[in-house]
Parts: sequence; structure tokens; C-alpha cells
Amino acid sequence: MSIISQKFIFQRTGHIVRNRTVLAAMTNKQSHDNGILSDNEIKWLTRRAKGGFGIITTAATHVSQDGQGWEGEFGTFDDLHIPRLSELANNLKQNGAISIAQIFHGGMRSPQKLTGLQPISASKNGCEESYSKYSREATEDDIYRLINDFRDAALRCYDAGFDGIELHGAHGYLISQFLGSKTNRRSDQWGGDINSRSKFLVEIIRSIKSTLPKDFLIGVRISPEIDKIGIKLHDSITLAKILRDECVDFLHLSCWDSFSRSKCEPDDPRSLTEWFTSTICDLPPIICTGGVWDNADAISVFSQGADFVGVARAGIAHPDWAMKISNQDYKPQKPPFSSLQLEEAVLSRKFIDYMRLWDGFVED
Ligand SMILES: Cc1cc2nc3c(=O)[nH]c(=O)nc-3n(C[C@H](O)[C@H](O)[C@H](O)COP(=O)(O)O)c2cc1C
Repeated sequence: MSIISQKFIFQRTGHIVRNRTVLAAMTNKQSHDNGILSDNEIKWLTRRAKGGFGIITTAATHVSQDGQGWEGEFGTFDDLHIPRLSELANNLKQNGAISIAQIFHGGMRSPQKLTGLQPISASKNGCEESYSKYSREATEDDIYRLINDFRDAALRCYDAGFDGIELHGAHGYLISQFLGSKTNRRSDQWGGDINSRSKFLVEIIRSIKSTLPKDFLIGVRISPEIDKIGIKLHDSITLAKILRDECVDFLHLSCWDSFSRSKCEPDDPRSLTEWFTSTICDLPPIICTGGVWDNADAISVFSQGADFVGVARAGIAHPDWAMKISNQDYKPQKPPFSSLQLEEAVLSRKFIDYMRLWDGFVED
């Protein structure tokens, strides 16, 4: 049997995943202004659960009102969100998928015109989303409030019936602004070397773990490298060891291109994922996402040492990707896609229009 079709058991919680495929988080702008999930957002994810994905991750969802990143983003910052979150979690479960909500705060990437507040970050940074062109450095009180917001959002996801959460520590949002040496220049306990810069993330994990029952999955998504904010490969490797010691249930590496080399170590032939799997023992289960379309791509990700293969764009156009990918001959169509094809794949007009912003994805 192909590794892609094999079941996986999460040791700590006992969750059984039916195969090794993951629908990675995708913002789709389909929800309501008050953060309540829309029918369209529920439908598009339910369709991918029907299509056989082992794990379905929701779009990034903001844990605090001031952490919203985009219009149409659903929220987990208020109990008023719970009923529709339950509907989504139930649909995913009924269709055999493990449901994971990706919880996040945009930090200095939360536009003031959306939240009404000056964006917050680890330090005062240059910030296009702020009317003053600068983010505000989080005070100690802000930091504890934010940790509690992450914990309360996780609790709402649990109450709604989700199997777990993924903490969005990738792509330059608030958690990665704390991790990055350029965006976090604090001299207190929340800044310094990677051990101190990761304290915000670690405290979020500890707070969630101490509040929620043991059968709730807690994973973390990171970007191994983002030069612009000071996230470097060797710090990310240290971070992965820290996360292993915190016993997170999975580590999701956001590679964008799973087959590329490290920018910090361009002469080394290892892929980004291989840097983690070849240098760290007892890693948590690894999800690797980025640039995977066909069977050969997926198999290559497993040969790098990943336990799960994640896809985003392939899963937009091909809702049954997970069901077909273990077939060696499966070569799904790549972009561009027509809006009719995307409508048939259960994308609403809003989502299709958003995908027009992704270079070469939609063509009519
Ligand atoms: C429309 C769209 C929205 C995305 N939104 C998110 C998001 O909310 N959270 C996140 O971590 N990544 C997000 N991503 C990144 C994907 O999860 C994924 O890492 C990236 O697209 C590379 O994978 P792919 O080559 O399979 O598309 C998004 C990607 C796309 C295409």
C-alpha cells in the first residue's frame, strides 16, 4: 500500500487519521463581517472532507478582534462564533476527516482600517497597515491578554467539536513577528535569542495544554526561513527542538516549494524538510506543504522524512485530490483554471475573485 493511503495514529491523543493527506489552511474571504462562518466557507471545506483528505485545516481565524488580517475572515474571538464552528466541525467529522482550526493573530499585518486600532507587534516596526506607519510594541499586559485570547479561541474550537488547532507561527503574522530577530528587538524576557523569542509561542502552547483536555490536538505551523523578518534556518531548527520538548502533536513546515534548498545554506543539497528530519531526533509528526501536485511530488515529500503531505492550491481545484493521489498515474491539471471549473469545485464568486489575485490561477 502506498504510504499516502496509510493510517496514522497521533500518540498523545489517540486520533486516527485515515491517510497522510492534509488540506493546508487557506484564507478564502467568504465569511461574515462579524466573524461568523458563512455557508460558503462551510461548504467548500466539507466538500474536501468528502474528497478524502485525512486532515482538513480551516483558514486562519483570528483569536482577537484586533488580530483580523482580511475582510471575510471568520473569527474565534467570541462565543457567538461557536454554533457555526460546530456545524463545520460536525460536517468534517461526518465525512471522516480530522478537523483542525488554524488560529492566529495578524499582529502588524492586521490593517488599522479593518480593526480601528493601531497594529500591535513584538516591537515598534515599520508597518504599512498602520495609519502612523508604525506598529505598537506590545506591553506585558498586551502579551498576557494575547496568550489568553489564543487559549480562549482554542477552547471555543474544542467546545465546537474540532479535533484540534494549528497555531499559525508562519508567514510573518504575530507569532512569527515574535520569532523573527528583525521584528522582535525586545530586551525583556520576550526578546533576545530564539529561546526567548519563542517564549510567546511556548506560553500559548502551555496555556492551551493546561486548560484543554488531553484529547485535543495542538500543532504548530512555522516558516523555516523568512529573511525579511529575521527568521533563519538554524533558529528554526532550535525552535523545532523546543516544540518537540513541549510535546506538540505535529509540526507543519510551510516550505512554499518543498523541493528547494535553504537560502541560508544554498550549498547544502538538503531540502528544507530534510534539514529538520536529518538533524533532530524524536521530532513530532511532520507535515510538509508547498508545490505538491502529483503522485511523484507527494512521494518525494515522504522520502524527505515527512509524515504527512499538505496541499493548498491543488486542493482548491481538485476537491477529490486526496482520494486520487495514491494512484501513480494521477497528474492533476495545474493552473490556470476557468471560473466554471472553480465553481464546480464549490468555490463561491468571492473566493474565485480572490483567487484572481494569485498570479495565473484563474483565467476566463
Ligand atoms: C488562497 C490561499 C490562501 C492561503 N491562506 C493561508 C492561511 O490562511 N494560512 C496559512 O498558513 N497559509 C495560507 N496559505 C498558504 C498555503 O497553506 C500553502 O502553504 C501554500 O499555498 C503552498 O502550498 P501549495 O503549493 O500546495 O499551494 C494560503 C494559500 C492560498 C493559495
